[in-house]
Amino acid sequence: MRPAAQVSDALYRAVKPLFFRLDPESVHDCTIQALSTISAHGPLMHALSSLAPEPDPRLAVQLFQQKLPFPLGIAAGFDKNALVFPALLALGFGSVETGTVTPLPQPGNPKPRVFRLPEDRGLVNRMGFPNQGVEAVVNNLIRLRQPARLVGCNIGPNKTAVEAGTAPADFAHAWDRVSSYCSYVAVNISSPNTPGLRGHQRADALQAILSAIRTARLGKQHRPLVLKISPDLTPEELDDIVSVALQFRVDAIAATNTTLDRPASLQSRHSSEAGGLSGVPLVARSTATIRRLVQLAGDDIDVIAAGGIFTGRDVLAAISAGAAFTQTYTGFIYRGPAMPALAHDEMLTLMTRHGIPDLTQLRGSNFQL
Ligand SMILES: Cc1cc2nc3c(=O)[nH]c(=O)nc-3n(C[C@H](O)[C@H](O)[C@H](O)COP(=O)(O)O)c2cc1C
Repeated sequence: MRPAAQVSDALYRAVKPLFFRLDPESVHDCTIQALSTISAHGPLMHALSSLAPEPDPRLAVQLFQQKLPFPLGIAAGFDKNALVFPALLALGFGSVETGTVTPLPQPGNPKPRVFRLPEDRGLVNRMGFPNQGVEAVVNNLIRLRQPARLVGCNIGPNKTAVEAGTAPADFAHAWDRVSSYCSYVAVNISSPNTPGLRGHQRADALQAILSAIRTARLGKQHRPLVLKISPDLTPEELDDIVSVALQFRVDAIAATNTTLDRPASLQSRHSSEAGGLSGVPLVARSTATIRRLVQLAGDDIDVIAAGGIFTGRDVLAAISAGAAFTQTYTGFIYRGPAMPALAHDEMLTLMTRHGIPDLTQLRGSNFQL
């Protein structure tokens, strides 16, 4: 690890107990403020990039015909308004998925709505898509453009549209506005915090959304389409989603969003707060979903793994299960800005130990680490 990353890791470990005494969303807002200032200033970006690991060809992966230097990216929800993706890329993450953004700005659910589960290395959130709306996000994507980097945009419907039964039109509108300014668009039908949204994972409802988006795509430049799904689907529901995804030529499925399940093993005081659970307690469910998706969709649809990815070992395990790429949110909160550098070293150490030449060889091998 480079000296700057070592210092940053030590500092984060020192300040984390203090951060963890403060309200999670306030800490997040301050972090966004700081990273947003950095993202808009070249010299500060240069300083931040001294934390990033040296690119290593053994860790490169391919997604949407693009070569990515690093197999771990930031999942949706961290950079909702596309304000800080340059800083996150400078830290060494392989991609950033901005959003979820809805056509109109909306405030989300009442606060408090994010809770740490430190004993379980998890979070519970019931944010409900607070965001500045698609026009503000498009302006930010244009202003902070990162050519040659993978920057996705995750889209969702306004709460009022779900209530009115017009979610497909919201997805089509959001697609139309963002698709020219990002590398791919992710369709979020899996957040548990907008009542009724997850019902759009049913085959007929999903077909309606994908048809509306197909119409919005006509005559426009191609952008890969990602479906983001829940870890709480039955095997039959998952089968149906894959059939519809194949029918509509979806490029990738991101598995998974947060779970409504509460494993009996949870220890933390906030574990029974309403909302979606993320982090380590989600790993078993998301890995089972990834394995099933790889079985069902084979080489036709790429799988992007999300759910409890904290370490380099977790990244390797997801790729070994067949994922093309991985994402983190909760792991970043727990490990801090040196996470890419830490995961980089952890992966290379394990790969050397087990004689794994590169990630292409590992993918889908089911090698037990
Ligand atoms: C506070 C918080 C907000 C989130 N917001 C979104 C969101 O807006 N859209 C989305 O698709 N996923 C959202 N997620 C889900 C993450 O993108 C990710 O799928 C999930 O947390 C599992 O990964 P993790 O265990 O690494 O956190 C959010 C997660 C958290 C913890």
